[in-house]
Amino acid sequence: MSARQAAGLIRSGMTVAMSGFTLTGYPKLVPEALAETGHAQGLTLITGASVGDGLEGVMARAGLVSRRFPYQSNPTMRRLINEGAVAYADMHLSMLPAMLRWGTGCKIDVAVIECAAVLENGLVPTCSVGASDAFVSMADKVIVELNTDVPESIVGMHDIFEIGVPPSARVIPIIHPSDRIGLPYIPCPPEKIAAVVLSDRADDRPHFPESSPAAEKIGGHILRFLEDEVEAGRLPPSLGPIQSGVGAVANAVLRSLRAGGFRGLSMYTETCQDAALELLEAGVFSDVSTTAVSLSAEAQKRFYDNLDWFKQRLVLRPQEITNHPEVVRRLGLIAMNTPIEVDLCGNVNSTHVMGGTIMNGIGGSGDFARNARLNIFATESVAKGGSISCIVPMVSHVDHTEHDTQIIVTEQGVADLRWCSPEERAELLIENCAHPDYRPQLRQYLASAKRSGIGRHIPQHPIQAWDWYARVQSGGSMMEPQE
Ligand code: COA
Repeated sequence: MSARQAAGLIRSGMTVAMSGFTLTGYPKLVPEALAETGHAQGLTLITGASVGDGLEGVMARAGLVSRRFPYQSNPTMRRLINEGAVAYADMHLSMLPAMLRWGTGCKIDVAVIECAAVLENGLVPTCSVGASDAFVSMADKVIVELNTDVPESIVGMHDIFEIGVPPSARVIPIIHPSDRIGLPYIPCPPEKIAAVVLSDRADDRPHFPESSPAAEKIGGHILRFLEDEVEAGRLPPSLGPIQSGVGAVANAVLRSLRAGGFRGLSMYTETCQDAALELLEAGVFSDVSTTAVSLSAEAQKRFYDNLDWFKQRLVLRPQEITNHPEVVRRLGLIAMNTPIEVDLCGNVNSTHVMGGTIMNGIGGSGDFARNARLNIFATESVAKGGSISCIVPMVSHVDHTEHDTQIIVTEQGVADLRWCSPEERAELLIENCAHPDYRPQLRQYLASAKRSGIGRHIPQHPIQAWDWYARVQSGGSMMEPQE
């Protein structure tokens, strides 16, 4: 069918699930046709995670979406959500497919899945699996966008395993990140496929921010921390499978592993970006398990040119498996993610600026941090040119509680919060992680919180803590005005 004919299968008020994860493997022609005709309004849009502007931006700008799950990173969609024009629930990525399969109340009318091949028994996704397996299984109808821009030789890179639904859910038999436990395609009965649309449209390439001196310092601190853990016998020399978030800090951290001379490590993550691909090529990683390969144009070309080599070393799985607590805990992951802010207790805000304005979403950070053997949250100590401290008295929104967080790193240093009391945590975070410009103010806060007796176990003073945000909200800096 043409994209317009296929888009005609989607009607106002429907729930549409589309493939894609971290800006890769999403359909482009059907969303574009939907925006051109504008016939289907008030859609609920579900994807695996963030998708490119060619889907998210196109549909947001056309005003077609009224509800959005479970993650986004698009400026237009973010604005609509923060204006209240789109209802958005920010969900753990491992929970999205599970909640669909458990029948918790969201029924998928149409799934639109970008594929590299259509086989007799199923669909071969392109460069991401995300939640497409759950979408295909739960949707009434499937529209396939068959994309010839992706080499067909990608067939064989995917590993699709369906857990099932409790009480008959299966054990996930992954003992090593490279284990293949399923099928190389998403099962789909031919009669479910309502349309096949031919496409040769490439994904929008993700923008990778330049590394910064602060990001390099963070990478250096994490490298030394990991070396010390190995030295102390708390980690094996092979470390444990690495999970890494996205962005400049995450990429700098990964590159530091190369500088540290590590070899033969594994990666068990949800997104493989340029730095991870480079480490695989260099032998720092011997294998990568991920749900998406999200690369710059230059790295994408190397990936496509050498698909057979990568197929031996890289496996693409559903996000339900890459992010599953059972596997994350068993494999002993080292999870490294980026927060917006961290408070003196060790609570982490990853999603909401000033407590209420959504940035992207929790993504997989909760799946990984809560269940990993070791979790590291790394951020620059200040944002917005120093007017905001990323180490604050009390976070304005909590995504990862003090019970979940272990290691906090900024360019200033490392705070190892394990086995520390609230007061010890606060002192470590001030002295090791806060920017020197904010340390006196944080010390003063801590002293006055202790004096106030408001918190008997956790030293806190909610009114003084809110003053930090109130100063920013009234257009200033978090820095306390000097007399
Ligand atoms: N207060 C206000 N704004 C802040 C801030 C703070 N404490 N810290 C960062 N910001 C702003 C930055 O100034 C920047 O704003 P801009 O877009 O206007 O320039 C924006 O937030 C992004 O910050 P940046 O430093 O570029 O960080 P990043 O690209 O590394 O992203 C997160 C940081 C937190 C937004 C991102 O990691 C995220 O969405 N995390 C949650 C999901 C996740 O962890 N996924 C990985 C799981 S596998």
